Amino acid sequence: MAHKFAEIAFTQTVRRVQEAMGSRSGYAAMDSGPDHNNLLSEREKAFIEARDSFYMASVSETGWPYLQHRGGPAGFLKVLDQSTLGFADYSGNRQYVTTGNVLKNDRVAVFFMDYPNRVRLKLLGRMELVDADDTPKMVRLEDDGYRARVERGMIIHIEAFDWNCPQHITPRYSQAEVDKLIELEREENRDLRSRAEQLASPNISKIGEGELELIVTGVRQLADRIRAFELRAPSGEPLPEIKPGAHIEVPVVLGSSTNEVRRYSIASNPNRRDVYEIAVFCEPDGRGGSDWIHKNYQLGSVLGVSLPINYFDIQTDTNPAVLIAGGIGITPIKSIAQALQNQTVDFELHYTGRKASAMAYLDRLQREFGPRMTSYVGDLGQRMDLERVLASAPANAEVYVCGPAKLIDGVLIAANQLGIDRERVHFERFDAQVGADARPVEVTLLRSGEVLHVTPDQTLLDAILDAGVEIPNSCRVGQCKSCAVKVLAGEPEHWDEALSPFERDSGGLMCPCVSRAKGNSLVLDI
Ligand code: FES
Repeated sequence: MAHKFAEIAFTQTVRRVQEAMGSRSGYAAMDSGPDHNNLLSEREKAFIEARDSFYMASVSETGWPYLQHRGGPAGFLKVLDQSTLGFADYSGNRQYVTTGNVLKNDRVAVFFMDYPNRVRLKLLGRMELVDADDTPKMVRLEDDGYRARVERGMIIHIEAFDWNCPQHITPRYSQAEVDKLIELEREENRDLRSRAEQLASPNISKIGEGELELIVTGVRQLADRIRAFELRAPSGEPLPEIKPGAHIEVPVVLGSSTNEVRRYSIASNPNRRDVYEIAVFCEPDGRGGSDWIHKNYQLGSVLGVSLPINYFDIQTDTNPAVLIAGGIGITPIKSIAQALQNQTVDFELHYTGRKASAMAYLDRLQREFGPRMTSYVGDLGQRMDLERVLASAPANAEVYVCGPAKLIDGVLIAANQLGIDRERVHFERFDAQVGADARPVEVTLLRSGEVLHVTPDQTLLDAILDAGVEIPNSCRVGQCKSCAVKVLAGEPEHWDEALSPFERDSGGLMCPCVSRAKGNSLVLDI
């Protein structure tokens, strides 16, 4: 057995019902692999410690279940270690139903709800009652300053737990949570007022030739070297609708070149029509575009940007999703997570970075997604185990990944090893990075008669364009297939995310912006 909750809860009868209802195959993968979901991770620990109430069921000696609600100050249920919870049992209505039940049958089920974030955790364990005079144990369970009489301690030895999907949870808010939300609104209003004042005398010289005219209405430092730019329409009219994962091309001026553009994902909530926010990482060893943006985009700057483009859209509206982001790759993943949350699709978000101060939106996403998000901060020694993340995902989950090439390649390799269908792994690259093991390739362009010697550090597309042969291209990272060309001889090594198996195998196409050759040469129909 692997998944401990399934081992306990999926009895033979439950399995027969799953079989009859057609859901058995989806849960079958939970029966194999190493044991899991019996030891709490940091994610469950943080979730439990943030709760100010929970529901607990016990079973009477006559076989009746009994459910009770327990409440107290946030964190009154203590996580004593990875497999033990405990709390002080304060004097209540003195019926002692739970206490009596567990004397005969120590099994309990506990249910934790986070209503605002629509997340729930269920847990199975065995209850140990602790005498109020047992000072060494009680001292770990009592709450400082909570004025009620303690009758005993209750310790739960965890046997299994599982996260539930968010379906059918109506968001509800405590007074403290409402106050926090109102304060955020107030803060935003103050911010908007101060920006409106700054925009009273805008700089009206327009940069760029894109067909969408936008004004920079906000600039803020998100993280080390990462700055957010808010872009709005000049007279406040609604912006074109976008799908999550969309990006825009924004202008930069480098030397005498005035029509260069850089692509940035729209990181703001895709439901918003009033603003597009982009987050720009100033690359120390880049080609200068991000540095130029940091130095020259100011409040009031008028930009001609492209209409939104999307090569990284959500694939289904129903399947659960695993979202994986590395560094600035969080920007499209953030908007995908927000869209899934709006659509009440189950998802988990894994976000990794070198250090917390370099991870854009980290605090905000932790607040917004709570236990659905796990962060891995490199300088705290936290590492994402890709194989484990993918192995514990539901069998029908779609995987979305964005970040450095190493992360994307790691996900593809782990998914392949676990037998995850390649069609369920979706990714977006920032750059067409040539792999460290790339070899030189001789490329013959049949129609123009050119023979190109492509060096290991060059993409085929760059070599073709450098030779003065114009072919269409757009994303340059293997996402749009606008550069696709027919291969007449030689075997291509495909690295794009755009062509279908049919287009590759029967159509004989390849994307030279990222793909190379398995052998030493290729002949292309251009
Ligand atoms: S330019 Fe987009 S796939 Fe090559």
